[in-house]
Amino acid sequence: MGNTLRLVFVFIFASLIVKSESAKILGLFATFGRSHLIIDEAVMQPLIDRGHDVTIVTTLPLHSPIKGCRHIQLNVPPPPKNLRSGANMESGKFTNMWQNYKKFMEFSLQYGNRTLNDPAMRQLMSEEVFDLVILDVYFNTFQIGLAAHFKCPFVFIIMQRPIKLFGDLVGNPLELTYVPNVIMGNIQPMSFLNRVKNVLATFVGEYASAWYLNYRMEEFYNYNFPSGRFPSYKEMIRNISLILTCSHFSEGTVRPNVPAVIEIAGIQAKSKPYPLPKDIKEFLDSAKDGAVYFSLGSNIRSVDMNLEKIKILYKVLSELKQRVIWKWEEGAPPGRASNILFKQWFPQDDILAHPNVKLFITHGGHGSVVESKYHGVPMVGIPLFSDQFSNVNDVVKAGYGLSLRIEEITVEKFRSTVEEVLYNPTYRIKLQEFSRIYRDRPMSPKDTAAYWIEYVIRHRGAKHMQSPAVHMNFIQLYGLDVFAFLFVILYVVFKVLFFVFRKVVHLLFGRKYKNQKQDSNKQKKNQ
Ligand SMILES: *[C@@H]1O[C@H](CO)[C@@H](O)[C@H](O)[C@H]1NC(C)=O
Ligand SMILES: *[C@@H]1O[C@H](CO)[C@@H](O)[C@H](O)[C@H]1NC(C)=O
Repeated sequence: MGNTLRLVFVFIFASLIVKSESAKILGLFATFGRSHLIIDEAVMQPLIDRGHDVTIVTTLPLHSPIKGCRHIQLNVPPPPKNLRSGANMESGKFTNMWQNYKKFMEFSLQYGNRTLNDPAMRQLMSEEVFDLVILDVYFNTFQIGLAAHFKCPFVFIIMQRPIKLFGDLVGNPLELTYVPNVIMGNIQPMSFLNRVKNVLATFVGEYASAWYLNYRMEEFYNYNFPSGRFPSYKEMIRNISLILTCSHFSEGTVRPNVPAVIEIAGIQAKSKPYPLPKDIKEFLDSAKDGAVYFSLGSNIRSVDMNLEKIKILYKVLSELKQRVIWKWEEGAPPGRASNILFKQWFPQDDILAHPNVKLFITHGGHGSVVESKYHGVPMVGIPLFSDQFSNVNDVVKAGYGLSLRIEEITVEKFRSTVEEVLYNPTYRIKLQEFSRIYRDRPMSPKDTAAYWIEYVIRHRGAKHMQSPAVHMNFIQLYGLDVFAFLFVILYVVFKVLFFVFRKVVHLLFGRKYKNQKQDSNKQKKNQ
C-alpha cells in the first residue's frame, strides 16, 4: 500500500515536472511545396514526442495525420499551374529564368500575406499565446511579425545551406574566398577565376536581390504588423534565435557556422523506414531485377511536361526489365506497361530505403537528393528549376549519378543514361560510402533539431548565442574602418620617419656634400 502510494506520488510529481517544462510551440509552415512540409514535419515530430504542446499551421494537407498535436489547415488558394511547371522552364535562357524567379517571388509574397490574413490564422493570433514560433522560410520572412505578436523567440527552417540571404540574419561569415555562392554550385577549393566570379556574383547578385527582397518584405510586414504597435521589421530580423539548415558539411561546402546555425540535413530520412503500403511493398518485394523510382518532385507535375518527352520517358521505362514506380499526379498515365506503377503520391523516403530500388530518376530538388544520398540510391537528374541545376551538378561531380537536360532527351540518350547508372556499379559504391559518412553523427538530425529548439525555449531566445556580427554594418564587419585607420596611422608614421630621416641625413652629410661641391667648383674655376 505504502509503495503504491509512493509510486502514485512519484508519478504525479514526474508529470508535474514534464508539464512545467513543456512549451507551447507554433509551427507556421505556409509553403506550397510539399517537399518543404516533409522537413517541417520531421522537425516537429520529436517536439511532440517530448511532450510539448504543438500547433502546426499549414496551407497544404499533412502527408499523414500527426498524432499528439493540433493541426490547422488554412484555406489559401494554390499557385497557378504554370508557376513552376516544366513546360515553362524548358528553355534555360537567363531572361526566362529571371522572369520565372520574379513570378515565383511575387506569388510567394502574396501567398504569405494571404496566410496571415486567413480567418483561422487571425483567430489563432487573437486568442492564444505561444512560447516559440517556428517558420519555414523562403520568400516569406515578413511572417516573423508573428513572433512580435506573441512576444516570443522564433526559429527559422531553411531548405538550403545557409545562403547569404539567411546567413546574414545571424551574422554567419561569408568567407567568399572558399565558400561558393549558391549559384556557383558546390566547388571547393575555388580557382582564382572562380574566386573572382564568386565575389562578383555575391556582391552584384546577392546584395542587389537581398536589398530588393528586404524592401518588399518590409512592405508586407508593415501592412500586417504596423509600426507603433510592433517592433520594426529591421529590429525583428536581427532577433532570430536559431536557423535550422538542411545542409551538412559532409555533403560538401565545408564552412564555418555561427552557433545559431544548426545543420539538420537528412532529418526527413528515417533511419528505420515506415512500413510501405501493401501494394507498393508487394510491387517492390517481387522486383527480382530491381526497381527504378521516378519522380519530378512536388512542384512539377509530369502532366505539365511536353507530351513528346513523356512519350520518350514512357517508351524507355516500359522497356526496362526493372520495375518502375512513377509519380503521376493527374490525368491518364501515358500507358499501361505491366512493369510500371503510376500513383499520385508515394512515401518517397520509405521507397528509397527499399533494398530493391536501384535508381532514382529525379528533378534534383534538394530534399530528393538528400533522401537518395541518405539511402545510397544512385540518381539520374533531370533539373528543371532554380537550385536543381546545381544540386544535380553536384551529384554528377561527386559520381553519384548522371544528368540530362530535359530539352536534350531522346530515346537513345535517355536509355543509355538510365542503363549506365543501373549497370555500372561505381555510382552505387561511391554513394554508399558517402551514405555511411553522412549518417555518422553524434545525434540524429531529429534529436539535434529538438535539442536546440528546446535550448532556445529554456534560455528565452538564447540571446547569448547571437553573433555580434548581426549588429555590425558592412564597413565594421569587414574591418574596413580598422584597415583605413591603421593605414592612416602607418602613413603618418612613415611620413614623420621619412621627414626625420631626411633631416638627419641633411645634418650629417649635408655640409660635407656642400663642401665637396664647393671644392669641385673651385677646381673647375681654377682650370
Ligand atoms: C528579441 O528577442 C528577445 C528574446 O526572445 C526578446 O526578449 C526581445 O523582446 C526581442 N526584441 C524584439 C525587438 O522583438
Ligand atoms: C495583404 O492582404 C490583405 C488582405 O487580403 C490585403 O488587403 C493587402 O493589400 C495585402 N498586402 C499587400 C502589401 O499586398
